[in-house]
Amino acid sequence: MPTRRTILRAGVLAGAGVAASACKPLSPEKSTSVIAFHGLRQAGVQTSPQSHLVLLGIDLTPKSGAEDLGRLMWLWSDDAARLTSGQPALADTEPELAVDPANLTVTFGIGPRLTQLVSGVTLDPLPHFSTDKLQERWGQTDLVVQLCADDLISLTHAQRMLLKDMAGLGVLRWTQSGFHQRTDDGSSGRNLMGQLDGSVNPRNANEHDALVWADGAWKHGTFLAVRRIEMHLDTWDELDREAREFTIGRKLSNGAPLSGGKDEFADPDLHATDKHGFALIDPASHVARSRSAMNGPQFLRRGYNYVEPTDGTSGLIFMAYASDLAGQFVPVQQRLAEQDLLNQWTQAIGSAVYAIWPGAPKGDYVGRAQLGLPR
Ligand code: HEM
Repeated sequence: MPTRRTILRAGVLAGAGVAASACKPLSPEKSTSVIAFHGLRQAGVQTSPQSHLVLLGIDLTPKSGAEDLGRLMWLWSDDAARLTSGQPALADTEPELAVDPANLTVTFGIGPRLTQLVSGVTLDPLPHFSTDKLQERWGQTDLVVQLCADDLISLTHAQRMLLKDMAGLGVLRWTQSGFHQRTDDGSSGRNLMGQLDGSVNPRNANEHDALVWADGAWKHGTFLAVRRIEMHLDTWDELDREAREFTIGRKLSNGAPLSGGKDEFADPDLHATDKHGFALIDPASHVARSRSAMNGPQFLRRGYNYVEPTDGTSGLIFMAYASDLAGQFVPVQQRLAEQDLLNQWTQAIGSAVYAIWPGAPKGDYVGRAQLGLPR
């Protein structure tokens, strides 16, 4: 039986894309775990964070052009559309692993080098920040694939299918695996320092439209900054609870600002003082330094915790989604590099930026329209 790649290479695109797979339709209770792949915008950005993440950093083989990239996006989009809906990928050797997608989302993006293949879109690398100690092995790649799901079987299977289909077209440079604490009551999940992380974020469609989704040539796309940040938990643990809360500017128990309020969603008041005139939220604390003068979210933070199994180090795979990284993310990161009490216990060791493609409607694949390729 020909593989998809041999079909594609032979140029027989049309029939292969619609070949039916022999799979059982989703049972009604499983259908709740399906997040549609096709749409104006890619899933996995505005989607509330699933439990597990795998982020793949991939380089295209040298000399690849728009058509090679298009071919890869076609293959991947077909895989993603099937797997996210609970159907096996074409020529799936383990179709049983695809039955419950468990909210699987697959989100594709391209690095600065490949944005040159798309007219009207530029993406600059981030400037150097004084606190960075970046390691080459977590650096910029041509492509990123963000896979998220609530079940590791579904996630791992999708990861494997995409990597299999990439053979000959791309080279895997790094894999970043992470986990997120899901809660039932709408509160943010905790990071490995024990803090509620994600309180100040865009909440509704209007805020996402204003802060996350791009316009113009990249309409319905967005931009992603990935920062791999190691946490020095051994020295962090030496601080007492008060000092840890002081460092962030919020309570550990419920994330409420140290200026008062009943929970993590209360607005921090950076001007509030105690009876001696000392600021309740220290001006050098993480919240004071990262907060906007406008008192609201500045971009979407969709972070995942990590533990590196090879050496036991841990931290945060910090992911910021914004319609304009230079205008929204960079100034905050600059401020934090200049001063942030948290810097003593954290260290950025990886950094990359990507343009996240707009979505593709049913029957189309991600990236085709932007690359100017025929259907
Ligand atoms: C390991 C590193 C980091 C940790 C542990 C951390 C932790 C936190 C925590 C606990 C909060 C308060 C609750 C919340 O609003 O989510 C917070 C807020 C925030 N952080 Fe971080 N953060 C880290 C890195 C960063 C980086 C690299 C940036 C951006 C460059 C950033 C930007 C922000 C922003 C914008 C807020 C919201 C501030 C506000 O408007 O009140 N954080 N962070």
